[in-house]
Amino acid sequence: MDDPLIQGLETAVAAQPDNVELRLHLARLLVDAGRGGDAVPHVATALQQRPDDPAARELMAQALGTPPAAAGAEPPVPPVPPAPPAPPARQRQREGFDWSAAETDLGDVVPAMFVDGQGENATPAFDVDREHLTLADVGGMREVKRRLNAAFLAPMRNPELRRTYAKSLRGGLLLYGPPGCGKTFVARALAGELGAGFMTVSLADVLDMYIGQSEKNVHEIFETARTNAPVLLFLDEVDAIGHKRSRTSSDGIRNAVNQLLLELDSVGDDNEGVFVLAATNHPWDVDPALRRPGRLDRTLLVLPPDAEAREAIWTHHLRGRPIQGIDVRRLVKASDGYTGADIAHVVDSAAELALLDAAESGELRLIAQADVERALAEVRPSIGPWFETAKNVALFANEGGSYDELLAYLRKTRRL
Ligand SMILES: Nc1ncnc2c1ncn2[C@@H]1O[C@H](COP(=O)(O)OP(=O)(O)OP(=O)(O)O)[C@@H](O)[C@H]1O
Ligand SMILES: [Mg+2]
Repeated sequence: MDDPLIQGLETAVAAQPDNVELRLHLARLLVDAGRGGDAVPHVATALQQRPDDPAARELMAQALGTPPAAAGAEPPVPPVPPAPPAPPARQRQREGFDWSAAETDLGDVVPAMFVDGQGENATPAFDVDREHLTLADVGGMREVKRRLNAAFLAPMRNPELRRTYAKSLRGGLLLYGPPGCGKTFVARALAGELGAGFMTVSLADVLDMYIGQSEKNVHEIFETARTNAPVLLFLDEVDAIGHKRSRTSSDGIRNAVNQLLLELDSVGDDNEGVFVLAATNHPWDVDPALRRPGRLDRTLLVLPPDAEAREAIWTHHLRGRPIQGIDVRRLVKASDGYTGADIAHVVDSAAELALLDAAESGELRLIAQADVERALAEVRPSIGPWFETAKNVALFANEGGSYDELLAYLRKTRRL
């Protein structure tokens, strides 16, 4: 009974839930097929992102079976006025469709916005995930893997080594590099490799969450890590603290920072089985207190994916898509300088090109090499601005040689 085109679009929308155009396209087909009820949740989701989009609003009116209001026109006069119209109803008619009725209809489908369900004093729960990824899933990045192996895996597998070098094993590793190049990905894979749980915490979120509660949150994070050991605790956006400290003099932030330093200092003492890995796109903004010996004292540069990594990324993102005649090797060559996130975006755009084409012609077709190449030409690599800043830092603020690795890369790739 289902139209294959509608089915195809449903799959595509499930894969790209934030693509408003695609969603509206599906909704229009559903309305045309007389399935207004099925279209409503899609249009409502689209309206959350684009509340003023006239096409979406009109589509909602159609999906709900209400005639759309012509722009600027007075609402139609009912032939028999049985009861005086309630003011909200008049307002609703002028806006085009019945918002409150739609809200009631959608109560179960679309969560209300602006409600987070947590009281002021609720303590947030921090999740610990089990990772199926391992370092074998990470394409390329040999140097990163080698360093992670030396810092985490070798000592864990070899207690003798750990005892001998116990002192120098204290302290954590700070992954840094341009956005979208695999810091989070490799951290997940490391957790899988260690057979440890994975706990990811964005410090920007923790500090923003509840003013005055940040200190408690920081303690809670490490407490959760300890009870779930072995666990890899991934502290993301650690530069957030530097910003906060310089912009506010709030005691709450200072206490949270102190708590974090305290907790970091005790990792390696009594935090048996808690591994800490931190990440940032802006290491130059990371608070110096966090970089002291014994804390996040070593840096590891995560660069844009090399050819081997790009092959893994293309293959990963194309897997499970309806493709035909894709030449991954050519794509790997053509995508030098693109990040993992850029490549994911290119594949989404290629799928969209094929789908919109199919929607227009009414015939399903597979994603072809030409779609991917067209999308690749349209998506520019996103790392330019990052390297501009990085260049200045490597040249003028390379104190203690902490950016030597970056400097070497910039020279090698002739960015300097
Ligand atoms: N070496 C790799 N092998 C396979 N996939 C990779 C690799 N590097 C990156 N990716 C892919 O690229 C995507 C983006 O990487 P990730 O989210 O880890 O970047 P990030 O450095 O954490 O970015 P941000 O700084 O924005 O948080 C990942 O979801 C992953 O699919
Ligand atoms: Mg990340």
